[in-house]
Amino acid sequence: MASKISVDLIIKNAGELLTLSSSFKEDSGLGMIQDGAVAIKEGRIFWVGKAGEVSKKFFLDRDSREIDAAGKVVMPGLIDAHTHLIFAGSRENEFEQRIQGLSYQEIEGRGGGILSTVEATRHSSFDELFSLGKRRLDRMLCKGVTTLEAKSGYGLSLRDEMKILKVMKALRESHLIDIVPTFLGAHTFPKEFRENRAHYMGLLIEEMIPQVAQERLAEFCDVFCEEKAFTLEESKKILEAGKRYGLKPKIHADQLSPGGGAELAAEVNACSADHLEYVSQEGINKMAEKRVAAVLLPGASFFLSMKRYPPAREMIERGVAVSLATDLNPGSSMTESLPMMMTMGCTMFKMIPREVIQATTIHAARSMGREKEIGSLDAGKQADLLVLDIPNYRYLPYHFGVDHVEYVIKKGEIAYHRSYFLGRERS
Ligand code: NIG
Ligand code: FE
Repeated sequence: MASKISVDLIIKNAGELLTLSSSFKEDSGLGMIQDGAVAIKEGRIFWVGKAGEVSKKFFLDRDSREIDAAGKVVMPGLIDAHTHLIFAGSRENEFEQRIQGLSYQEIEGRGGGILSTVEATRHSSFDELFSLGKRRLDRMLCKGVTTLEAKSGYGLSLRDEMKILKVMKALRESHLIDIVPTFLGAHTFPKEFRENRAHYMGLLIEEMIPQVAQERLAEFCDVFCEEKAFTLEESKKILEAGKRYGLKPKIHADQLSPGGGAELAAEVNACSADHLEYVSQEGINKMAEKRVAAVLLPGASFFLSMKRYPPAREMIERGVAVSLATDLNPGSSMTESLPMMMTMGCTMFKMIPREVIQATTIHAARSMGREKEIGSLDAGKQADLLVLDIPNYRYLPYHFGVDHVEYVIKKGEIAYHRSYFLGRERS
């Protein structure tokens, strides 16, 4: 008999183990193993299979741990593919104004919107932004997020964009969640250059992008391509400049109006096009052809009470890899809850539970070029996974607005274990 191998962590008896592995096909489409187990060694997935085989193959050292997931669901850690993690201040006043009938664009016209957050962020120190970012990351971890993409974009000057990106770097080095940084200096035109767009374009292309790239502070370059923000032509110039400096393109496309953003994403070979409420047929075709991932943001549709939703079903049917993300930001989606987005993906965008799970794991990994490292439970991948206290996978989007996460495992370590209500009764 082959000798047993020592591992660091075993999760066994999972009612449903969702591997999301493409090498493992079965009916659910999620690579499900019933009564499954995972063995983890040195921060990586070592083995995935049936619980009955675990004790024959592996043993645990003194420092090793074992989790019994009987009757529970085990799956890859969630990946939030689009956040604006670092900002100061809040905009609950605008929330109230919108409830009373003003639109997002009207509020922006009255001096609210992105620029008011830029003002607050410019006036905040590195330490203040770090502590705000840390608290948001902590909240996300408890919701099951193990990796996220984070954009700058509330600085809009060389100094303030660098400050935000350096805060992200410090958080990346200290927090358990992995952060994939994106430069979004092209979020909107800052107030000092509203009448001189060419000047800000020059600043972005000749100073900010080169410096961000030189200091390796971002992996992606994003643009808010929209009537009131950056035109198609400006967006293209910025994304091309980013590419010359090794920053991969992403784009906020067709959110508030149809603007050819998805077509541009295909033209510049963007990793993802995000939002897409007003995407055209041609845009979907081109995204499918060029394998541009779609990142849909139901929180923004919900929070802005938008009547128009992105055509998720059509994109899925044409073979576009669709992911869902929070869009965490103080204006259009003030939430850290990716599980909530999964429910909204189902009820608003008509995605089925299997699709919203793919959308927040393997497809989200794809949208940020990380699909070889995270997003599924395949031997060799990073050991980022969740134990959920639910009887089956459909239950996750179904029972909404409450927390089902019992354990979060990050790189093989227990990063979060739900603390239990003590159950005290009246005396
Ligand atoms: O993704 N679209 C642009 N940016 C954000 C909104 C930013 C804000 O209102 O502060 C978004 O929805
Ligand atoms: Fe956004």
